[in-house]
Amino acid sequence: MVRLVQVSASYQPAAAAGYATEVDRVLNNISFHIKKGESVALIGANGAGKTSLFLALAGILPLTGGSIFIDGVALSKRTIKTARRKIGFVFQNPDDQLFMSRVYDDVLFGLLNIGVAEEEAHIRVRNALAKLGAGHLADRSPFRLSGGEKRLCALAAVLVMEPEIVFFDEPTAFLDPKSQRAASEVIQALPLTKLIATHDLAFARTLCDRALILRSGSLVADGDPATLFDDAGNMSLWGL
Ligand SMILES: Nc1ncnc2c1ncn2[C@@H]1O[C@H](COP(=O)(O)OP(=O)(O)O)[C@@H](O)[C@H]1O
Ligand SMILES: [Mg+2]
Repeated sequence: MVRLVQVSASYQPAAAAGYATEVDRVLNNISFHIKKGESVALIGANGAGKTSLFLALAGILPLTGGSIFIDGVALSKRTIKTARRKIGFVFQNPDDQLFMSRVYDDVLFGLLNIGVAEEEAHIRVRNALAKLGAGHLADRSPFRLSGGEKRLCALAAVLVMEPEIVFFDEPTAFLDPKSQRAASEVIQALPLTKLIATHDLAFARTLCDRALILRSGSLVADGDPATLFDDAGNMSLWGL
């Protein structure tokens, strides 16, 4: 469903012209395949390239090499719009995602934007909020919610679009333990294809089928989370 073939990317303008050395690359020759329905953890120290990988998947960070395939279709300027319909992104900071003065309007915005009829859109918004246990937040201002509440609303705004694949960037960051557990349960219950960047190894171990480990922009391991995390020598080598 999501296939990367030797993907490289760089923030350095020189790289776009083909002069990138390995050191300049924020993503270095990354290949992996996520199957439909899989739940995959993306693990890596701060600066390893997790967010950059999501930006590449969103078509925001241009590739300097390799290809990304969504449902077998290579991402390009021509295909990005169709691909984005299948993909949901939950950003690290919900403040980057919520901008209306009412939660309800934030969740509604994306649907109206893609031309869903008003009546259907309102039904979907109410369902999405209810499903996440956030119905009572509909009339609140996103800016006056707790971290956990904000995250639920950001998640509702993504799920209402009915994506097939969702990329989560550190979904339990900045949350207290109780909200972390609540967010984890909500994510686990979603019957979707998921790639979840996280520092929470316990979360990855229990909720993910697989873990990808990034170190300095390179994919250094891809396998069963428990097996990978129990190898103390490798974990310290990877800066984890
Ligand atoms: N906009 C940017 N311009 C230049 N370098 C960046 C930019 N964003 C991130 N980087 C660099 O890319 C590397 C990977 O960052 P990031 O993808 O945010 O890592 P992670 O999400 O794993 O913490 C870091 O060295 C970071 O400093
Ligand atoms: Mg990040």
